[in-house]
Amino acid sequence: MKKAPIKISAAANVALIKYWGKTDLEKNIPSAPSLSVGIEDLRTDTIISESREDKDTLIGKFKKSDEQRILNYVFMAKKLLGVSGGLEIETENNFPASSGLASSASGFAAIALGIDKFYGLDMPREDISRLARLGSGSAARSIYGGFVQMDTGPDPFAKPLIVEDPWPLDILVLVTEEQPKKMSSTDSMNLTKDTSPFYSAWLDTQEADFLKAKDAIEEKDFWKLAQISEHNCLKMHSTIMTSKPPHVYWNPTTVEILHQVQKIQKKGLRVFFTIDAGPQVKLICDPSDTQRVLEQFESTSGISRRIVTKVGGEPQIEQLA
Ligand code: PMV
Repeated sequence: MKKAPIKISAAANVALIKYWGKTDLEKNIPSAPSLSVGIEDLRTDTIISESREDKDTLIGKFKKSDEQRILNYVFMAKKLLGVSGGLEIETENNFPASSGLASSASGFAAIALGIDKFYGLDMPREDISRLARLGSGSAARSIYGGFVQMDTGPDPFAKPLIVEDPWPLDILVLVTEEQPKKMSSTDSMNLTKDTSPFYSAWLDTQEADFLKAKDAIEEKDFWKLAQISEHNCLKMHSTIMTSKPPHVYWNPTTVEILHQVQKIQKKGLRVFFTIDAGPQVKLICDPSDTQRVLEQFESTSGISRRIVTKVGGEPQIEQLA
């Protein structure tokens, strides 16, 4: 009998405590714990259905190398789970892919959730998270919305960070470059690990940063979270910039935004920045200050898009008739 197609919407996430460096390249095992927030409105929508041929096909806009990576992942996932049959995977992001907005996180999370549902496997969430991790480390966290933590270990998975009552925070995504980045996060993190003299300092301080951020979230202490997240982000980028050959993901607008954030923080606006492997800046804002923060960036040249969204991003899974 023909299986019903499945539609999944999975959200991107941004790490406040970053994962950067792996202990196992094949299994994507992160060297250190990380902590992220789901981004409600940056999403990948994917439909998984039975392929007319006995092979997997991918429909969507991809670079050739990304297309092969996704097809290899689907092949590996089916083999691992002991399921068969060609799949048709139609996938679309509502934001530019491979530009440091975490398209791999939402993309692989959508496929992992979709494969589980399509074959009726009903796996525990932690196993779906492990499966997503095999596609990309950060994808393990996009299985959930809200605050999510990811530990290390031999076969790690992400889990939601339980907070007593929700902490509503806005996210302002400032897009400074629409083109795909020149170096993938996988290549860059491997280069960093192998060549940056700061990599060991980065690893040594990760656990303490992670615990401090967890405390800040539990206490809903905005400035404590701001301080530790910004520092963690700058440490990660310092290791990238000091790899050999050095690599800089930022552009002049990225730097301009950081200066502006520091200026408006002094005026008392509750906002802080974080940047993943790319030139885009994500600002985390207390909702009562979001409008004023946005106004500060209205005339900054070099920002091609301003996306106002919030912490959220619970995946949606639907069986189509
Ligand atoms: O999931 P990957 O392998 O593309 O790595 C993501 C790395 C960062 O986004 C920079 C940090 C993180 O924890 O998401």
